[in-house]
This record gives sequence, C-alpha cells and structure tokens, in this order.
Amino acid sequence: MERHRIIIDTDPGQDDAVAILLALASPEEIEVLGITAVAGNVPLALTALNARKVCELAGRPDVKVFAGCDRPLGRELVTAEHVHGKTGLDGPVLPDPEMPLQDGHAVDFIIDTLRREPAGSVTLCPLGPLTNIAMAFEKAPDIMERVREIVLMGGAYFQVGNITPAAEFNIFVDPQAAKIVFASGVEITVMPLDVTHKALVTKARNDAFRAIGNRVGVAVAEMTDFFERFDKEKYGSEGAPLHDPCVTAYLIRPDLFAGRHINVEIETMSELTMGMTVADWWRVSGRAPNATFMGDVDADGFFTLLTERLARL
Ligand code: BDR
Ligand code: CA
Repeated sequence: MERHRIIIDTDPGQDDAVAILLALASPEEIEVLGITAVAGNVPLALTALNARKVCELAGRPDVKVFAGCDRPLGRELVTAEHVHGKTGLDGPVLPDPEMPLQDGHAVDFIIDTLRREPAGSVTLCPLGPLTNIAMAFEKAPDIMERVREIVLMGGAYFQVGNITPAAEFNIFVDPQAAKIVFASGVEITVMPLDVTHKALVTKARNDAFRAIGNRVGVAVAEMTDFFERFDKEKYGSEGAPLHDPCVTAYLIRPDLFAGRHINVEIETMSELTMGMTVADWWRVSGRAPNATFMGDVDADGFFTLLTERLARL
C-alpha cells in the first residue's frame, strides 16, 4: 500500500487528539507532513497548544505544528466548550509542550507544501472548521489541482445536525469555507455524523484503551471519560461518538467504511439551516457528484485497529 502523505488540519478536541495519535502510530501507512491548527472547538491559542501537547504525548516533538485562522471567513466564531471542556482537551492532565509552534501561518504552510511536493501526492485531512483549507484555496487556486484528496470529518445527512437541528459543528462554524471546499473540484471523502455516531466508545472499548497501559492508552481513556458525559446525556447512548479518528482510520483501512459518491452542497444563506450539508444520498437532484459521503463503519474493526495502534506509542 502506498503511504499517505498528509497535512492534518485540526481544532483539538479530544477526538481530534485521538485522530492525530492514530496517524502518528501508523508510520507505515501515514506520513504526517505537518499539523495546522484552526479555531473551532476552542479558540486558536488553545487548539495550537493542544496540538503540540498531543504530539508530545505521542513522543513526536519533531512534528511541525502551525497556527492558522483564528476565526471563520464571514461569521463570528462559535466554540464547543460545553462538549470538550474549557481547555478543549479536558480529561487527562497533559504537561505544557516544550516544542515550539512553527514560524509562519498555517495557510502558507499548506500552500507551500502543495507547491513543493509532487502534484497528487499530498492528502488534506481536516478535522475542524474548513477555514484554513478554504483560505489556502482562495489565496492560491493553483494548489487545488495538486491535492491528492481531502478526507474530512464534517456534515450529516440522516443524523442531520448536532450543534443546530440542521447542521454539524465543523460545517456550521464556517459554512462559507465549507462551500469553497466542496466546490473546489478536489476529490473529497466525508465522514459525517451518520458514520461517527456508529463509532461509539462503549465502556468495554474504553476499558480496552485503558488496559493498553501505556501513557497514551490511559490518556485516551481519560479523554473519553470526560467528553462522553455530554453525549450520553444528550443521546442516551452507550458512549460518545469518536468522530475525527474515522478520518485517519480510513487512510489505513478504507475497507472498514462504506458510502456513496454523491452531490453535497452547503447551505450558506438561511440562518435556520445554516451549514446544513445537503447530501443527495438518493440521487434525486441531478447535480454532479462531488464527494464520497460515508454512511457506515465496521465499528468493531475500527476500535480493534485503534487499540492495536495506540499500543504502539
Ligand atoms: C466535530 O465537532 C467537534 O466537536 C469534533 O472534534 C468533531 O470534529 C463533530 O461534530
Ligand atoms: Ca474536530
């Protein structure tokens, strides 16, 4: 299997953290060229800090971490401390990172990397609002045709929304950015709530993380202990959905996921349904497909992969 060379664009976030850990634990399949932080779950200063905490937790202070956009393209920032806690990474006590933030803006890092590396060799993995990616596409349209693929967490069809009745958080925070990305012509694979709500961290699965016994396994179990209270209360479910790791798991084991190549448009006009991903699952619109929209995951396979990989760190 050809190794994926990726940029992770992220707003950590406990589930973002697990997605990053999975990538860093899988060097045979994934090379992380850099991590770009964006404002989302918490403000930028915290997401840029948390990204570095996670790299150091993984024993990888060499990973390049850049700070990007501190607010959406055309709207006020909406954050999610009610889910992720005040720090964005509540749960484990992680030391302040010693590794520095890289000089330069995340958007320029994305542009420079895509221009420098061979065309079609770099995959973008957005795990938060799409502000950095859209900014890069607007500033340097020439890079769009050089992207190999975008694999992102965002949106919903059957699950409709989590931050509003109609919209998923990442798309809702910056719908204008999402519109630019979905109209870019770049090949896109989407992990919507329809998939991530099938990847629930049950007690047995969280016990398995803890039982790994290394620092990472215990920290991941503590992260889940923290953020599952919100979803359990809200949905009455067995545990919290592990959204963002679906992205990095897909790079390693695409066979765990199933979906449809369909048209997906983003609502940017109506306040009521702002950020809705209008996914033509039933192919009734006649609009050209622009994304592979996932609908299902082999949850046991996903958690087995995750546990096995986190044990390597
Ligand atoms: C998404 O929103 C964030 O809270 C999570 O990190 C995930 O990326 C789920 O809607
Ligand atoms: Ca996220």
